[in-house]
Amino acid sequence: ASVYDFFGAHQAGITTPVQDHLHFAAFDMMARTDRDDLVTLLQDWSYAAARMTQGLDVSATGAVGGSPEAPPDDTGEALGLAASGLTITFGFGPTLFENDGEDRYGLAAMRPAQLEKLPAFLGDDLDPAHSGGDLCIQACADDPQVAVHAIRNLSRIAFGRARLRWSQLGFGRTSRTTAAQSTPRNLFGFKDGTANVLATDQAALDDHVWVAASDEPAWMAGGSYLVARKIAMLIETWDRVRLSEQEAIIGRTKGAGAPLSGGDEFTEPDFHATGADGEPAIPVTSHMRLAHPELNDGNRILRRGYNFVDGNNELGRLDAGLFFLSYQRSPEQFVTLQRALSTDTMNEYIRHVGSGLWAIPSGAAPGSYVGAALFA
Ligand code: HEM
Repeated sequence: ASVYDFFGAHQAGITTPVQDHLHFAAFDMMARTDRDDLVTLLQDWSYAAARMTQGLDVSATGAVGGSPEAPPDDTGEALGLAASGLTITFGFGPTLFENDGEDRYGLAAMRPAQLEKLPAFLGDDLDPAHSGGDLCIQACADDPQVAVHAIRNLSRIAFGRARLRWSQLGFGRTSRTTAAQSTPRNLFGFKDGTANVLATDQAALDDHVWVAASDEPAWMAGGSYLVARKIAMLIETWDRVRLSEQEAIIGRTKGAGAPLSGGDEFTEPDFHATGADGEPAIPVTSHMRLAHPELNDGNRILRRGYNFVDGNNELGRLDAGLFFLSYQRSPEQFVTLQRALSTDTMNEYIRHVGSGLWAIPSGAAPGSYVGAALFA
């Protein structure tokens, strides 16, 4: 069973081998809270997160060690469960720094210039009830109950200071961050995460994922930016598409995940190769081609999304999709890619229904808390 350090140069949950389950939550600070409330919240969250990621209760008295006359500190549903690879990753949304012109926490001057609401994209159908948030927490674990326990207890600790705005459960990883992990599949049935940035590729992480010490602002060094997009997948429509067309839309084979130019899953795609009909073997409007670094000035992102099914609608269709999560050194990387995908033939089968952007500060030193550099 895996146990990951909470403390370190970078927050865990980014390059950490992608776990099987997700509980993601966005929070808003409550009215009449001040800078001290925010700092103590981050301290309390870091303390509890450091314990839970080691498989412990949120406090020393925990679920059953306190007074029988008081509600327990820990809600208890993770008692007896292992750490299960739990990682807890905290982020700061644009509205934390300044909201409607109000600088409640004295942070406006610290806002990274690129940390603003993402621009509108063609085809966006965003629901405010699944978008934004002053703060976010990504909890990933190999046991779904461990991830839910983490979000539940962190929400409880936030009482009176921050309130849950929206949250999302994810049940199957759609990416890999280490070569040892097999490539999982998304709900279109295709391997997802083949060409992801891996934890062992230090040069790619430095170029594309971690904010450098030379980037602005200085407090973000060692951090990253997280984009979340709740993407509904019209799977009943997709399921009526013939196999060859599905493969042309993705740009890879469904079985092996090989590029349509030939080879196996990890063969580099050849965008100049042509098929028997003289057309490009990898169609110019395929998802993989439009997203590939070769056609995006070398631009890459670290993808860490999850499949979701939130029940079904009244027409008997599954409310299913991909909860897309990507980490990048600058939000501009996502914006560039998402714009490049405007001609993607996959767009007919997906709808972006939720969105958020958060600054992910560096990891905390032992005894300190996540985001301390922002208040130094
Ligand atoms: C690659 C699926 C949304 C960026 C892929 C692949 C699949 C896939 C099957 C090929 C295997 C791989 O390398 O991982 C999907 C689905 C989506 C979705 C089902 C929505 C429901 C997005 C979005 C972005 C994105 C919103 C970014 C704006 C990428 C990138 C690659 C990729 C960068 C790797 C391209 C390469 O280097 O070859 N995606 N994707 N995807 N996707 Fe997506």
